[in-house]
Amino acid sequence: MKVGIIGAGTMGSGIAQTFATVESYEVYLCDIQESFAQNGKNRIAQELSKRVAKGKMDQDAADAILGRIKTGTKEICTDCDLIVEAALENMEVKQATFRELQNICKKDCIFATNTSSLSITQIGAGLDRPVIGMHFFNPAPVMKLIEVIAGINTTPEMVDTIKKVAEDLGKTPVQVEEAAGFVVNRILIPMINEAVGIYADGVSSVEEIDTAMKLGANHPIGPLALGDLIGLDIVLAIMEVLQAETGDPKYRPHPLLRKMVRGGHLGKKTGKGFYDYTN
Ligand code: CAA
Repeated sequence: MKVGIIGAGTMGSGIAQTFATVESYEVYLCDIQESFAQNGKNRIAQELSKRVAKGKMDQDAADAILGRIKTGTKEICTDCDLIVEAALENMEVKQATFRELQNICKKDCIFATNTSSLSITQIGAGLDRPVIGMHFFNPAPVMKLIEVIAGINTTPEMVDTIKKVAEDLGKTPVQVEEAAGFVVNRILIPMINEAVGIYADGVSSVEEIDTAMKLGANHPIGPLALGDLIGLDIVLAIMEVLQAETGDPKYRPHPLLRKMVRGGHLGKKTGKGFYDYTN
């Protein structure tokens, strides 16, 4: 199966690595410039080198994974069977991306989006085919879940196909009806927002809030480290969708979260969030 991944950022490159690990998938990793897609592939190469260095994978296997990933712009996706769009988390960008893809891809190519909270139905509005949500979790090669999200026009056949693809990738699919934040982010992201509020109120330090949730709730990492891993801009965007879609004030993004995003303190990807990653 040929899969086009649109967007070579953290999620796009993680998703490309996940597909390329399975021999039966050929991956086209795309971005608005070929060089951005190549940067994504370089990130995958670095991840694989770490696994080789740890003795978890041999060099031949790493080379084979990289060999299954071709980079370019979305124009290389003409004969793809599946598109997984992982572009910016912005409705206009996603709609415009699929509008262009419908003129590039063959008619039976399935359009899936990795949106973390936007409406699948709205992303697909006006296209010549329905869209489905195929939501991976960060880091995509490690996390076992894929939320499979049906919009109003998504067909049961598409749901079945994407569940099957998820299983091929060694993941567990969970079927979800369209709703703001789906399942995981509706629970997880307000928790991170609450942790920001606890810190802003001076209740405890960043490190101690995270230690409390690691040891008190058995989370693998604390909520503030998780916000940094996801990207605080993404956390903010999801809170805004939850608030706008439900109208419920309990989803108000914390002002400190907003301030950090405005200041470019987005977490790991900019080197600074609740923790410093510059070293
Ligand atoms: N790519 C590939 N593999 C990675 C990786 C990456 N980016 N990051 C870590 N790994 C692998 C490591 O190679 C290691 O593999 P082995 O066990 O085979 O050696 C394994 O993951 C564990 O990594 P580490 O030992 O370096 O570190 P860790 O034990 O602290 O685990 C973690 C790291 C898996 C990220 C763990 O901290 C964790 O599970 N954190 C929570 C992640 C989470 O909740 N993600 C969901 C975010 S919400 C989301 O993504 C949805 C959304 O829409 C916003």
